[in-house]
Amino acid sequence: MFWKVDRDSGKEMTVQLAEAAMLLRRGETVAFPTETVYGLGADATNTEAVQRIFKAKGRPSDNPLIVHIADRDQLSDLVNTDSLTSEHRQLMDAFWPGPLTLVLPVQTGGISSLVTAGLATVGVRIPDHPVALELLREAGLPIAAPSANSSGRPSPTLASHVWDDLEGRIGGIIDGGATGVGVESTVIQLVDGQLFILRPGGVTAEQLQAALPAIRIHEPEQEEVQDSEIPRAPGMKYTHYAPKGYMHIVQGDKSEAVMAWIQADIHAAKARGESTGILTFEERAGAYEADLVIACGSLAQPETIAQELYGALRRFDQEGIAYIAAEGCPETGIGLAIMNRLRKAAGHRLVRV
Ligand code: TXA
Ligand code: MG
Repeated sequence: MFWKVDRDSGKEMTVQLAEAAMLLRRGETVAFPTETVYGLGADATNTEAVQRIFKAKGRPSDNPLIVHIADRDQLSDLVNTDSLTSEHRQLMDAFWPGPLTLVLPVQTGGISSLVTAGLATVGVRIPDHPVALELLREAGLPIAAPSANSSGRPSPTLASHVWDDLEGRIGGIIDGGATGVGVESTVIQLVDGQLFILRPGGVTAEQLQAALPAIRIHEPEQEEVQDSEIPRAPGMKYTHYAPKGYMHIVQGDKSEAVMAWIQADIHAAKARGESTGILTFEERAGAYEADLVIACGSLAQPETIAQELYGALRRFDQEGIAYIAAEGCPETGIGLAIMNRLRKAAGHRLVRV
C-alpha cells in the first residue's frame, strides 16, 4: 500500500491513516514520516510483527529498536515508571514531542523482547510530526520503528528513499513529504545522576544542558582512522550510512588549505580514472571542480546541513560516484550529530590538513 498524505488536509488524512493503522494492528510493517527521518513501524507488542522489521531492513538482531508512543500515558505499558526520576520528567517536559529518545528500564511483559534485543532497557520517544502522531493514536499501540532504510544505507528523509530501499519488503509507505530535522533523534540514558548521549541527534547537547543545568553530560567518544596517504583497505567493510563509493572527510583550521587539498585530491582521483564527488556547503560549492559537487546546506545555517545530509549521500550512489571528499563542519549544536553521521559514512577516515 502507498498513501500520499497532505498533513494539512484533515479528514482525507484521517481516512488514509486509519487504513495504515489497521495494517499495523494486523502485524504488518508500515513506513511513516517523523520529524527526524522516516521510520519503519510495527506493533511493538507483537514478536512476529517486529521480526518483519528486522527482516525487511536486514538489520542485525542485536540492535534494539526505538518505541514510539503518542502520549505519555502509554509509558506505563512499556517502562517501569517507578524508576523514573525528576530528571527524566524534566526532559520529557522540555523535549516531547520531539527528537529525544530516552532509554528507560523496560516493564516485563509489555513489549516483545525482540524490540530491546533482550536488554533490560527500552528506548522511547514521542515524535513531533502530525502524521506520525495521528497514526500512533489510530493504531492505539506502542510502535517499534527504526529508520526505514536498508541496514547500512543512509536513513530516509523522503518517501522515495524508503521506496528505493524497501519496496516489496514492507506492508505500506505513508508519503508525508520531506522530514524536518533530517538526522535521527538524540538517544540518551541517565545513569547515577549523569546523562550519557548514546547517539547525538536532533536535540543538541547544549539544549540538554540548558534543560538540566546541574547534570553532567557525557558526549560519545569518537573513533578515528588517520587517513593521510590513504592506502585503500580492500575488503574492509564500513557499513553505516555509507555511500557505495570511497569517502573521506578533510578538515583543518584554514578553509583555503582544506579546499586546495580537496581539489588536488579530486584531480588525482580523476587522473586515475575514477568518477569524483565533493560534499561541501553552499558557501563553497562554486569554487570546486568534480563530476558531482553537492552543496549540502549552508554553514551559516547548520540545520540545513542536517536536513540535506542523507539525501546528498544517496545522490553520490545515484550518480555512481566512486571517490568522494567531504568537508566537515563545526561540532557545536546540530553539528555534533552531523559529524557523527558523516564520520560513520566515511568509515571514520579523516584527513587533517
Ligand atoms: O529519529 C529516530 O530516532 C528514528 C525515527 C524513526 O524515530 N529512529 C531511529 O531508529 O533512528 P534506529 O533503529 O535507526 O536507531 C535506534 C538507535 C540505535 O542506535 C539503537 O542502538 C539505539 O537507538 N537504542 C535503541 N534502544 C536502545 C537501548 N535500550 N539502549 C541503548 N540504545 C538503544
Ligand atoms: Mg537507523
